[in-house]
Amino acid sequence: MSAIGVTHLSKSFGGVRAVDDLSFTVEPGTVTAFLGPNGAGKTTTLRMILGLVTPTSGTATIDGVPYRELVRPITTVGAVLEATAFHPGLTARTHLEALRVAAGLASARVAHVLDQVDLTAAADRRVRGFSLGMRQRLALATALLGDPDILVLDEPANGLDPAGMRWLRGFLRAYAHQGRTVLVSTHVLTEIQQIADQVIIISAGGLLFSGPSPAGSDLEEFYLEVTG
Ligand SMILES: Nc1ncnc2c1ncn2[C@@H]1O[C@H](COP(=O)(O)OP(=O)(O)OP(=O)(O)O)[C@@H](O)[C@H]1O
Ligand SMILES: [Mg+2]
Repeated sequence: MSAIGVTHLSKSFGGVRAVDDLSFTVEPGTVTAFLGPNGAGKTTTLRMILGLVTPTSGTATIDGVPYRELVRPITTVGAVLEATAFHPGLTARTHLEALRVAAGLASARVAHVLDQVDLTAAADRRVRGFSLGMRQRLALATALLGDPDILVLDEPANGLDPAGMRWLRGFLRAYAHQGRTVLVSTHVLTEIQQIADQVIIISAGGLLFSGPSPAGSDLEEFYLEVTG
């Protein structure tokens, strides 16, 4: 079964057709790069996969069912979306702890995910003082809390320093090598090229390309050709 399935998916906002009859699958054990120009419909698609936006038509499924029908969503799929909001007065640890308790997860998970994203030293600082990259790490920790088999990430490299980028690449590659699934939207093609197995390119809400990452050739060149 595909980890993520998108079938004839469309979404209109008023007169704007943000996603237009889009179909693709994302298979387990892969890092799949989700690419396209600004306004192409990437975030809208990811939000529909996560049950946050209702499609105008078509379906998006996770392990064969719509997100809303997942029995334990937090242990199935973790997500980092654009502009994730945290309560500024909470510390990183308190934020994660609240989610952990609400989801009924083991108490050791909080320290584990803080360590995974290298936020342990800042765990007891209030999020209001966090840098962009620290917020991004916290968002990723939140996504990892339920130890999900599927990660959906919308521009997760945003704000990460070079060491953070390298760490994220290694992390996502290892995640996929465990047989898990990573769907990641990004504009940083030089970064994703090193780890993407599969590439999906959309423009104006429609599919331009879906297939293996072009081996041995430059992903940026390929992308510009496909979208040009
Ligand atoms: N809530 C909304 N209301 C109205 N229009 C929207 C809404 N969300 C998205 N859109 C429109 O849908 C289109 C696709 O937007 P979307 O954010 O999905 O693109 P994107 O591929 O994620 O772009 P970017 O690379 O800039 O993040 C755009 O024209 C956008 O203005
Ligand atoms: Mg977007």
